[in-house]
Amino acid sequence: MRFHVLTIFPGMFESPFAEGVIGQARQKGLIEILSYDIREHSHDRHRSVDDYPFGGGPGMVMKPEPLFEAVEAVRQNASLEDSTPIILLAAQGRRLTQKVVEGLALRENLVLVCGRYEGVDERVRQHLATDEISVGDYVLSGGEVAAMVVIDAVSRLVSGVVGSFASTQDDSFTTGLLQHPQYTRPSDFRGMAVPEVLLSGNHAEIARWRRLESLRATLIRRPDLLESAELSDDDRRIIEQLRADS
Ligand SMILES: C[S@@+](CC[C@H](N)C(=O)[O-])C[C@H]1O[C@@H](n2cnc3c(N)ncnc32)[C@H](O)[C@@H]1O
Repeated sequence: MRFHVLTIFPGMFESPFAEGVIGQARQKGLIEILSYDIREHSHDRHRSVDDYPFGGGPGMVMKPEPLFEAVEAVRQNASLEDSTPIILLAAQGRRLTQKVVEGLALRENLVLVCGRYEGVDERVRQHLATDEISVGDYVLSGGEVAAMVVIDAVSRLVSGVVGSFASTQDDSFTTGLLQHPQYTRPSDFRGMAVPEVLLSGNHAEIARWRRLESLRATLIRRPDLLESAELSDDDRRIIEQLRADS
């Protein structure tokens, strides 16, 4: 899978993806992260990509020409299909969720456009971007960190990137719920003991405990998720019981 990132700070994308599972995936050629400098498409000797907002007001706005031309150059040089998503990172975009990530992971190429300053000229949003993604209801100083979040979350779902694909399948949100608590050795740390059931070797009991704890964590921390999660009759009974006990 290839990520094409358009930014005025292409160097930002090197070190965050040099290590860990993403770094290994890059080395194996499972994913490629290509960053392109929008300033290469500036039309003046100062390499400027921003200008004053029409109508006045504070700050600067990213000009349309360099952004359109940068996307066109990537499309042509990387022989991208017309259907390749052109994603503008924007606080006003649709919220990134695991479902959105799963959809993006099905693509071979993604183009990620990082805004800066007060944002991008509206014509970029309306006529160039095919999608707009926000990583949350807060404002970042640029789209780069948001693009990194997209790249990281999507890469984990590319086959071979995470050692055990099964481990991504019971991750929080993937199942519609938060994940159950995890423990490792020692079984007793400063008097804090691991739940007995996890040491029992009884896989059916462990699965039951994990489901119960997953439901409990979701009910306590993110009850909103229960409205759309796929729940069995057993799950509903457990939730009723947990509510009654609280
Ligand atoms: C300072 S912000 C501009 C915010 C803009 N004035 C607004 O009110 O929506 C500069 C750039 O950071 C990126 N950005 C900021 N917050 C973001 C978020 N929550 N998700 C994704 N990108 C974001 C966008 O690319 C944006 O163009």
